[in-house]
Amino acid sequence: MKLLNVEISAVAALAPMAGVTDWAFRTVCREVAPVYTVTEMVSAKALCYQDKKSRQLLRLGGDEHPAAAQIFGSDPGCMAEGALRALDISGADVLDINMGCPTPKIVRNGDGCALMRSPELATNIVRTVVDAVKVPVTVKMRLGFDGGSLNAAEFAERLEQAGASGFCVHGRTGRQGYSGRADWSGIAKVVKAVSVPVIANGDIFSLSDLVRCLKVTGAAMGMIGRASMGNPCVFVPEGQTFRTDIARRHFELLVSDKGEKVACLEMRRHLAWYTRGLPFAAFFRREMNTLATPEDFARLLRRMDREGDPYG
Ligand SMILES: Cc1cc2nc3c(=O)[nH]c(=O)nc-3n(C[C@H](O)[C@H](O)[C@H](O)COP(=O)(O)O)c2cc1C
Repeated sequence: MKLLNVEISAVAALAPMAGVTDWAFRTVCREVAPVYTVTEMVSAKALCYQDKKSRQLLRLGGDEHPAAAQIFGSDPGCMAEGALRALDISGADVLDINMGCPTPKIVRNGDGCALMRSPELATNIVRTVVDAVKVPVTVKMRLGFDGGSLNAAEFAERLEQAGASGFCVHGRTGRQGYSGRADWSGIAKVVKAVSVPVIANGDIFSLSDLVRCLKVTGAAMGMIGRASMGNPCVFVPEGQTFRTDIARRHFELLVSDKGEKVACLEMRRHLAWYTRGLPFAAFFRREMNTLATPEDFARLLRRMDREGDPYG
C-alpha cells in the first residue's frame, strides 16, 4: 500500500497497544515477520510540555521503517505542535491520529473516539496537522461512537478531503469497547467510500483470518492487536512455534532497553500471555509473579520448554 510517497510492502500491521507494544515487543514481532508498526498512543498535550516519558514511547528502532507515530488529543493547534514533536523524536514515516480510543478518561476530554461525534472538529484537526507536517497523516478510528451513529464512511470521506492519506478502521463502535464481534462489513463500507488505503482491524486472530478479512473488506492491509500478545508468531503461518525462544529474545530486548529491574516487572505480564493455552498455565502464572532476576526467567523458560512438566 502507498501513503503519499511512502511505500509499505507489508500486508500485516501490529496494532498500537498502550502498555504492550513498546520498542522491545515491536522489535520481536518485526524479527518474526516484516510487519508495519505504530507506536503506542502519545498525548499531544504531553508532547507540547516536553514530557520525558512520551519521548521513550516514541522511540523507534534504527531499522523500524516504515512506521507510524500515533498521537491523541483534540485541540488542533496542540495536535499540530504535538505531531511535529512526535515526528522529530521518532523519525517516523507516517503520523497517525487516534480517533478510536473509547477509554472513559480519554473520551471525557473529547479525545480519541469522542472525535467521531464531532466531525467538524476532527476535520479541522486533520487539516491543521496535514498543513504542519511533511509526512502522510492517517487516522485510526472505529465504526462510530455508538450504535446510533455509525458514521465511519462519511467521517472518513470528510477526513480524506481534509488531507488524510489513509485510515485504519476497527470494526466496532466506541461504545462496544471490545465486546461483541468486529463487523468487517462496516470496514468494507469505508473502503468503498474513500480512495486512499484502508487498514482493516478487529478480531483478526490468525493469518488465515487476515486473508479472509482482506477479502471481505477489500482493505489494503490487516492489523492484529490482542492476538499478538504473547504470540508474535501470529504473523507467520506456522502459528505458535518457538514460543519460548521468542519470549527469551523479547526479554533480552526489554533488558537492553529498560534495564533488568523494569524488564523483570514488565516481562511478568507478557509471560502470562506467552503461557496462554499451556497445560500448566496456572502454575506458570503463579511462578511468574515471584520472578525478580534474569536467572529466574531463564529457569522458568527452560521449564516452559519442557512444557507440561513444570516440576521436572
Ligand atoms: C491493551 C490495549 C491497548 C491499546 N492501545 C491502543 C493505542 O494506544 N492506540 C490505538 O489506536 N489503539 C489501541 N488499542 C486498540 C488496538 O490497536 C486495536 O484496535 C484493538 O485491539 C482491536 O484489534 P484486535 O481485535 O486485533 O485486538 C489498544 C488495545 C489494547 C487491547
